[in-house]
Amino acid sequence: CGIVGYIGQQDSKEILLRGLEKLEYRGYDSAGIAVLNEDGVHVFKEKGRIADLRQTVDLNVQAPLGIGHTRWATHGVPSRTNAHPHQSASGRFTLVHNGVIENYALLQRDHLQNVQFQSETDTEVVVQLVEKFVNDGFEAEEAFRKTLTLLKGSYAIALVDAEDPEVIYVAKNKSPLLVGLGDGFNVVASDAMAMLQVTNQYVELMDQEMVIVKRNAITIKKLDGQEVARSPYTAQLDASDIEKGTYPHYMLKEIDEQPFVMRRIIQKYQDASGALTIDKDIVNAVLEADRLYIIACGTSYHAGLVGKQLLEKWANIPVEVHIASEFSYNMPLLSKKPLFIYISQSGETADSRAVLVQTKKLGYKALTITNVPGSTLSREADYTLLLHAGPEIAVASTKAYTAQIAVLAILATVAAKAKGIALDFSLVKELGIIANVMEMLCDAKEEMEQIAREYLETTRNCFFIGRASDFYVGLEGALKLKEISYIQAEGFAGGELKHGTIALIEEGTPVVALATQEHVNLSIRGNVKEVVARGANPCIISMRGLETDEDRYVIPAVHPMLTPLVAVVPLQLIAYYAALHRGCDVDKPRNLAKSVTVE
Ligand code: G6P
Repeated sequence: CGIVGYIGQQDSKEILLRGLEKLEYRGYDSAGIAVLNEDGVHVFKEKGRIADLRQTVDLNVQAPLGIGHTRWATHGVPSRTNAHPHQSASGRFTLVHNGVIENYALLQRDHLQNVQFQSETDTEVVVQLVEKFVNDGFEAEEAFRKTLTLLKGSYAIALVDAEDPEVIYVAKNKSPLLVGLGDGFNVVASDAMAMLQVTNQYVELMDQEMVIVKRNAITIKKLDGQEVARSPYTAQLDASDIEKGTYPHYMLKEIDEQPFVMRRIIQKYQDASGALTIDKDIVNAVLEADRLYIIACGTSYHAGLVGKQLLEKWANIPVEVHIASEFSYNMPLLSKKPLFIYISQSGETADSRAVLVQTKKLGYKALTITNVPGSTLSREADYTLLLHAGPEIAVASTKAYTAQIAVLAILATVAAKAKGIALDFSLVKELGIIANVMEMLCDAKEEMEQIAREYLETTRNCFFIGRASDFYVGLEGALKLKEISYIQAEGFAGGELKHGTIALIEEGTPVVALATQEHVNLSIRGNVKEVVARGANPCIISMRGLETDEDRYVIPAVHPMLTPLVAVVPLQLIAYYAALHRGCDVDKPRNLAKSVTVE
């Protein structure tokens, strides 16, 4: 979910709605705004997208103060009732919330037995508690503070009081939240992107802080009431980076940006002599560790799997890769000197952050590899490596994945060099070749569209098989396809398919097989034969030099350890066209959010 708020001189509705549009990547199953003027509070909410909410907003209502929310459902189905803002029983307090209040049921039982709840959300308990404490005789600010001290879980909250049109109360714990400063106005937002339209000056908030936001001043306080002074920073984002331009979808734009991102990464990581370089402290941390633990979710996890191979083969450092949400609750036996590497496009994923909090408590160092400078995971880790991919807006991650692999490759070669391991290739040169090949693949859109039509237009499932790094790319290809086209897709190790999953192969089942690895080329082709014998419709994507007549598409040759960077591009495009032809919402697939800020 994402939240926004505005207090100033102008009418707030459009500022809030535009802000929410920029936050839709955080969820988009329902949305709402509440604005406050001399007539009181006006709440507009709707199931669906911000575009749906727009239809319900009364343009005649003018109000210089308001809050807004776009939701990714956790507690309670997506519906108008469960959409934020939520109001207290009397209607005096109105609130939006991103996060999860873990102890909401207990709070309800202990403090609010006589209150009639209107929604099924965990959030409503917060606004009802504020009102309860006001009814007990506390001032609004004190009632809010008292409420916050009782909450367990994560929250970014904005609260308005119908009796005080001069203030927005905000608070943060675990969920990200920024206060933006303007001339005669101030704003709040889950992400600076939302309010770039009005300001680029932001103040970061820390966990367990609250802020009293007025038109001309903000006051940050800890939950014990102590005031905190903090200077603003300038958000570096360029508003034009977050526009689609002439592209029909962000996803297609971001796929096409990959060659450019590769070249930018090379530049950003080159020193004056042209050699690839990484901050000494980071390299030392990597070399001092006896084992690296990569923690990530979704696509970033898939990039981590490729990264493990690079770090192990090139720098000879043992690496484990873990899914963040599993690691927290099922921690493996750790080595003596681990270094944790968090890979996260957004730097905000709550599952990954939960592990970071845990490993920091245990006293272990952490490196975050992220696309978003200043993001939570970046701030809270000891070190950061940036992806320099530019804002990624489509929910399905594409350019961040290839950027993650490229940065991991750089880390691996720099670590190898620091250890005195001689590598017989230049990564700068190899990544340059990759950028060129990516360009050729992006030019092959018609071919990819044809493959999508041929194999995926009507199928209900699809398999991706590969061996070695092709297996990892297959996992990512399957994820891309399922998340945007809703075709049930599975990535499988070529040799493992026969141990059960092959039972699912029927006449005509599409099987995309990747064959970019020489040492397993014969075996993956054997696996293709096995599925063809059972009726599968194979689509072999191979690399130049390893191709046979039966291949559907041949990728120009690149360094054998870096094939994931190019092999994934056709799979991204195939997924894109499959989703497009099946009439799916490519950039905002159902049930998903780009940044899942709850555990
Ligand atoms: C969400 C997105 C995925 C993404 C994952 C991890 O589930 O839908 O596309 O891979 O989060 O996101 P991160 O920002 O941590 O890389």
